[in-house]
Amino acid sequence: MTTIDRKGAKVPALGFGTWRLTGDPCTRMVTAALDMGYRHIDTAQAYENEVEVGAGLAASGVPREDIFLTTKVWMSNLAHDRLVRSAEQSLRDLKTDYVDLLLLHWPSDDVPMAESLEALRQLRERGLVRHIGVSNYTVALLGEATDTHGADLLCNQVEYHPLLSQRPLLAAMRARDMVLTAYSPLGRGQALRAEAIRETAEKHGRTPAQVALRWLIEQDGVAAIPKAGSESHARANLAVFDFALDDADRAAIGAINGDNRLIDPSWSPAWDAA
Ligand SMILES: NC(=O)c1ccc[n+]([C@@H]2O[C@H](COP(=O)([O-])OP(=O)(O)OC[C@H]3O[C@@H](n4cnc5c(N)ncnc54)[C@H](OP(=O)(O)O)[C@@H]3O)[C@@H](O)[C@H]2O)c1
Repeated sequence: MTTIDRKGAKVPALGFGTWRLTGDPCTRMVTAALDMGYRHIDTAQAYENEVEVGAGLAASGVPREDIFLTTKVWMSNLAHDRLVRSAEQSLRDLKTDYVDLLLLHWPSDDVPMAESLEALRQLRERGLVRHIGVSNYTVALLGEATDTHGADLLCNQVEYHPLLSQRPLLAAMRARDMVLTAYSPLGRGQALRAEAIRETAEKHGRTPAQVALRWLIEQDGVAAIPKAGSESHARANLAVFDFALDDADRAAIGAINGDNRLIDPSWSPAWDAA
């Protein structure tokens, strides 16, 4: 598995997303994903599946140190003490001594950013989290966290797929040596219908999902975490390390209208222009 090496971390370029996976199917899919070679698992307290993800990790038999495990703190837990308790509960639920990456799930004006970042820093100092980061942060918020508050962030996890260009954010993150983890990398299925994706897939004898994922992980500092509800989808999504896109493919995919944001709840920040 290709890794993205940043700030002492080795982030597997392809991870397994678990949003909307719950109960036994979640445990089974996490175990299956690890058995077939995934080494990067993404969960969140808000997904209400950390217990099942933890059970899936335990059942797989893959050594904990070989897995890059991410979880997230929900917006209602951004105040210092609540954040610490949230992270400690996540570790209990996941049945692990540490997570590799803890993210602030969404920005919020309710708690000063510096307070949440300080809580993350303390958790890292205690060894409960190896790396810290954010999710759904814009260029401006990223600047505030890193330049104003001096936070040493590994990652910003954001929506990114062929239907949503993230050029300004990518530039801001590369300037800070950060990993951009692409969530909803298949555009929740919608990116697979784009003509340029389908034509490129046909040209390479691959599936549209493989082309969309390959397009992401070929980019400097970008990881992708597709969710799959079946072993066949999970296995297909992992098979993206034995082919490459060429300049014509990248031009065709880059020409897709990149202004199609799919995850835009009422609490979203003022997004960067596409
Ligand atoms: N930080 C955040 O705020 C945030 C927000 C959204 C998502 N995320 C993370 O990102 C992960 C992925 O995002 P997502 O779940 O929104 O969307 P996604 O991964 O872009 O798409 C998932 C959809 O694509 C389908 N699919 C998967 N593999 C496929 C394949 N090979 N061929 C055809 N269809 C395929 C899945 O169907 P099946 O289930 O039937 O396989 C599912 O309907 C989440 O699970 C979560 O971990 C984070």
